[in-house]
Amino acid sequence: MGFMRWDFVVLVLVLLILSVAAEFCYGGRTSSFVRTANLSLDMPVDSDVFLVPPGYNAPQQVHITQGDHVGKGVIVSWVTPDEPGSNTVIYWAENNTTLKKQDDGIVLTYNYFNYTSGYIHHCTIKGLEFDTKYYYEVGIGNTTRQFWFITPPEVGPDVPYTFGLIGDLGQTYDSNRTLTHYELNPAKGKTVLFVGDLSYADDYPFHDNIRWDTWGRFTERNVAYQPWIWTAGNHELDFDPEIGESIPFKPYENRYHVPYEASYSTSPFWYSIKRASA
Ligand SMILES: *[C@@H]1O[C@H](CO)[C@@H](O)[C@H](O)[C@H]1NC(C)=O
Ligand SMILES: *[C@@H]1O[C@H](CO)[C@@H](O)[C@H](O)[C@H]1NC(C)=O
Ligand SMILES: *[C@@H]1O[C@H](CO)[C@@H](O)[C@H](O)[C@H]1NC(C)=O
Ligand SMILES: *[C@@H]1O[C@H](CO)[C@@H](O)[C@H](O)[C@H]1NC(C)=O
Ligand SMILES: *[C@@H]1O[C@H](CO)[C@@H](O)[C@H](O)[C@H]1NC(C)=O
Ligand SMILES: *[C@@H]1O[C@H](CO)[C@@H](O)[C@H](O)[C@H]1NC(C)=O
Repeated sequence: MGFMRWDFVVLVLVLLILSVAAEFCYGGRTSSFVRTANLSLDMPVDSDVFLVPPGYNAPQQVHITQGDHVGKGVIVSWVTPDEPGSNTVIYWAENNTTLKKQDDGIVLTYNYFNYTSGYIHHCTIKGLEFDTKYYYEVGIGNTTRQFWFITPPEVGPDVPYTFGLIGDLGQTYDSNRTLTHYELNPAKGKTVLFVGDLSYADDYPFHDNIRWDTWGRFTERNVAYQPWIWTAGNHELDFDPEIGESIPFKPYENRYHVPYEASYSTSPFWYSIKRASA
């Protein structure tokens, strides 16, 4: 008691050295972007980014993610609003247009408080070639829509590949700016690692799940053409026993499927993939 403790002295010294180091350690500025003081507002439901595609039962909210462990598979997901329609995805390699293949997926719906979802389709395509552009078509029968994606190169330690990193996106005017910023980046990101917090529908009264649909339509312009690798954040919980919703992650889990079984995981909230050099 009453003595100066040596570990305390060492701690103070370390802090001193660190703070001096911090003075001289300036990481530089990578962007001229400065965040404004005010939070940007959510885009209204009738915004251009939320437009419903024309045509009876036209597929909307089209999104893809990796569908196997190494990048030769893709999970294609979409929503049809009027009737279940077809679960089939037709796809072909760009340099082999005569050979069209097709796979069938599943369709599901869910209820959340007084909301009933559209028909949510998920179809896993496997056995693709690496480094190849594929076209794909959904909505067969009534209104078809066509998109494309490029598979990654084979997994290896030094394979060049560019990932984007987006999280906390939401659907404000700033969310739209963030997505545009990513799209216009000269580095041309090929896959997004999405670090959680997708739609922010949970900010609305009764977690208005219509805001999950608007988010799906907003992001389609990118995620229909390149995979976004999903992780769930706290805003995906949608846990609200007071309105009878006590199954956590219900909207997220129904809408965003991930290839968790390919890494022998038992839960979609915990999985791994390999892609190019990552
Ligand atoms: C932020 O909002 C306040 C109150 O609405 C407004 O007076 C101010 O001009 C806004 N600032 C910016 C940078 O938009
Ligand atoms: C390309 O098409 C030919 C037949 O036209 C087929 O034998 C070959 O396996 C196809 N390759 C791919 C990558 O689909
Ligand atoms: C759900 O309930 C809320 C609150 O009563 C109401 O504002 C909303 O219009 C309802 N939505 C549907 C689809 O019935
Ligand atoms: C298609 O093109 C890719 C390169 O984009 C190539 O790797 C692949 O072998 C080609 N497949 C066929 C069947 O020609
Ligand atoms: C949509 O397609 C289904 C199955 O082919 C068909 O039974 C139905 O009549 C079509 N609906 C319209 C409005 O074309
Ligand atoms: C969103 O961004 C796109 C592309 O920059 C633009 O065309 C569109 O008008 C924007 N919409 C809103 C509601 O900000």
